[in-house]
Amino acid sequence: SPITLNIALDKPTGKISPHMWGVFFEDINLGSDGGIYAELVKNRSFEFDQPWMGWKKLENGPEGTYLLLNDSKRKGNKRYLRINNAANLKLGLQNEGFRGMGVKAGAAYEFSVQYQSAAKGMKIHVELLDQQNKVIGAAELPLEPVGSWSEATVKFPVNQTTDKAKLNVWFTGAGTLDVDMLSLFPIDTWKGRPKGLRKDMVQMLADMKPGFIRFPGGCIVEGKDLANRFQWKKTVGPITERELIINRWNTEFSHRLTPDYFQTFGLGFYEYFLLAEDIGASPVPILNCGMACQFNTAELVPLDELDTYVQDALDLIEFANGTTDTKWGKLRADMGHPEPFHLKMLGVGNENWGPQYIERLAVFKKALNEKHPEIKIIASSGTDPEGDRFDFLNDQLRAMNINIIDEHYYRPPSWFLSSANRYDNYTRNGVKIFAGEYASHTTRPNGPGKSTWEAALSEAAFMTGLERNGDVVEMASYAPLFGHVDGWQWSPDLIWVDNLQVYGTPSYQVQKLYATNKGTNIVPIKRDGEFVAGKDSLYASAVFDAAAQQLIVKVVNYNSKPMKVNLDVDSKKKPAATAEKITLANANLNLSNSIEEPLNIRPKQNTVTSKGKTIVETFEPYSLTLIKLTVK
Ligand code: AHR
Repeated sequence: SPITLNIALDKPTGKISPHMWGVFFEDINLGSDGGIYAELVKNRSFEFDQPWMGWKKLENGPEGTYLLLNDSKRKGNKRYLRINNAANLKLGLQNEGFRGMGVKAGAAYEFSVQYQSAAKGMKIHVELLDQQNKVIGAAELPLEPVGSWSEATVKFPVNQTTDKAKLNVWFTGAGTLDVDMLSLFPIDTWKGRPKGLRKDMVQMLADMKPGFIRFPGGCIVEGKDLANRFQWKKTVGPITERELIINRWNTEFSHRLTPDYFQTFGLGFYEYFLLAEDIGASPVPILNCGMACQFNTAELVPLDELDTYVQDALDLIEFANGTTDTKWGKLRADMGHPEPFHLKMLGVGNENWGPQYIERLAVFKKALNEKHPEIKIIASSGTDPEGDRFDFLNDQLRAMNINIIDEHYYRPPSWFLSSANRYDNYTRNGVKIFAGEYASHTTRPNGPGKSTWEAALSEAAFMTGLERNGDVVEMASYAPLFGHVDGWQWSPDLIWVDNLQVYGTPSYQVQKLYATNKGTNIVPIKRDGEFVAGKDSLYASAVFDAAAQQLIVKVVNYNSKPMKVNLDVDSKKKPAATAEKITLANANLNLSNSIEEPLNIRPKQNTVTSKGKTIVETFEPYSLTLIKLTVK
């Protein structure tokens, strides 16, 4: 007999959270520096541990010609370069960029520099070179003699496209010149913001219409030690004063060593909030809870010394939501955003565990609940959904009535398929779930994996379970978000880039389809009275979109053969005669997208006809299909 799925449209079981289907941002795999943050110069302020990293001297003068000095009076970025050129020699530096610099023919770029003590007549001359050392763009920048640190800028066009350009900076004129923050940005950034973000990368996020954006990670929140934890206050204010740190992913724990990986914080907390606002996503910052990464040094802040950490959390709420007459609200306004950022949720700790985590979380919870009962607290239960550590934390977090539990799972496709019913019988006691990091890993534990169609389809099957249980699973995000093809530590990732291009993996296509079709109400969809979670390798969920008056059914056929299914809609409402159909399908589970073939796996649009209140549909082998039926 044919398979029939019964859809009880008039009996919704709950609401889909407006925050459903978001993105998880971490500066891993050159996600920020060398990625979405469009700065092209690596180590622009000579602050890396090895101050010449990324730079090469083009001409050598006598000893002392290029001197690195420290200005103890300056905040954050103390080191600068003094060029002593009494003999008026031809002197210059070359910057290699982040695995080269991506520049486009016809586009304009802005070079800027902080400088002081320029003698009259001094000039800077910049040149962009292609891989054959041909000049593809150049400009001259006269320097006015100034008494204190000042900025000079020049814009110039480029006449060739390459992802491996390098920048020469020549200094001419006799005398001494101090320089810092040598920087090159495209003019054409996201929303045209000066020194802003890479437009193509942000567009990929905006296209997903994410319900939230979590930032700044991940393990970088914890830091390998506490000195190198993420401290949001050091990432706001003038970028010239932001103190960089070594990136947590610049370590021996990386699958690939990237010794030049630092966080300059040009993309700091203000910019993260702005990004969230731009793409219509709720901001979800996560803060350190007083523990360094337990896979690393596991350094702990004594319980009675947590005040600074807790104060950081309280001040962050003021920075995001406070009025402009408060200290942190004023800083937000001074940076250009007097209106609040509407922060509603705050994470405390990432993948921390044991009683030490619970004790520290309790201190945060007390202070946050007292001062900001309106803010929902997210707490982490770690990465091992079958482990004792996970169970212990889940029990403890429930007992302390934490608002949202952040569960992570990096597991093989088989786990995602068999866990599509994970939340069907979950405790519903008010505590909500944030599936904060997940990805199907086809190759784990045997090394890095690729986001294949197999991985993506198993995630799609699992996500039917998240959607069916949207009353308890309020938020979900794939992780990590970005990978740079020439500099990554972790794979699979959702979106891959090189210095010029970007593509979405099959998993991205799945995430985007879910996020842009999330609906507003959960509609039960059953087969013989049971949820459709794997029987005959079929998985399904359904939602109603109140604004569009549309039923949206998602079906995963995880079979190598087509499957004929009747979708029976039980409703007093009248369905339209045709429905929209969107399919992601491929018989080859090993297929991936790539820079060369970015759309191997991409959605196909079609229509289907309904016979009364039934749609008879044959689902393609290995497919995710969305049926969107207007009902009035
Ligand atoms: O997503 C990569 C890493 O995986 C995150 O930094 C961490 O939270 C998890 O272990």
